[in-house]
Amino acid sequence: MSSDAMKKRAAEAALEYIEENTVIGVGTGSTVNYFIDALSRIKHRLDGAVSSSEATTQRLKAHGIPVFDLNAVGPLPLYVDGADEVNAQLQLIKGGGGALTREKIIAAASELFVCIADQAKRVEVLGTFPLPVEVIPMARSHVGRELVKHGGQPVLREHCVTDNGNLILDVYNLAILEPATLEARLNNIVGIVTVGLFAQRPADVLLLGTADGKGVKVFGRDRAAHGQYAKNSPEDR
Ligand code: A5P
Repeated sequence: MSSDAMKKRAAEAALEYIEENTVIGVGTGSTVNYFIDALSRIKHRLDGAVSSSEATTQRLKAHGIPVFDLNAVGPLPLYVDGADEVNAQLQLIKGGGGALTREKIIAAASELFVCIADQAKRVEVLGTFPLPVEVIPMARSHVGRELVKHGGQPVLREHCVTDNGNLILDVYNLAILEPATLEARLNNIVGIVTVGLFAQRPADVLLLGTADGKGVKVFGRDRAAHGQYAKNSPEDR
């Protein structure tokens, strides 16, 4: 089975976490694109979405799904987004698509963060995927030197300007054994806008699309303890 088919399985399973007449947060990436396409089937039950990128906004609007400013509608009951890597604690590396800053803002402003991914994204230790860091352009060299002091090898992402007008450094060779500690340390480097580690605010639920007969594995928060979404949650399958 292709990774696209597994992404689609995870994306479609996320529909079951949506409550009627709500505005939800929508992430960015190829997995989320499957989610947006699926969302169009139930858009009559949804008030709209807050988008994490210009690309997602365009796709939502193309499906006729209203897009709102977070300031007008937050906090949100639900955020659905993909990941580049996810560990057993549901801590994530994100930003492969360059949308990490808006993604992190929406995750912070959401009650429930459902991560959708194919099985290749599940890792023991974060850091094989280079860690994306969004930086203010004039701070690029300074931040690069500071990242080297933390043991990483930063590489400027070519031909990439974020939706916020900033640059991305992809940091190689980090074995991230303590994700929340590293996130806090990197957050202290002047000139960094956002670190693509989602450890202080990890996902609450992981829907992992698999190649086997079960289709989607569910990890995370005890659904029975959270009545607002327990009723319609998918079982492991
Ligand atoms: C976007 O900036 C990223 O955080 C994506 O969520 C991540 O790169 C996953 O992308 P795919 O779903 O395309 O693998």
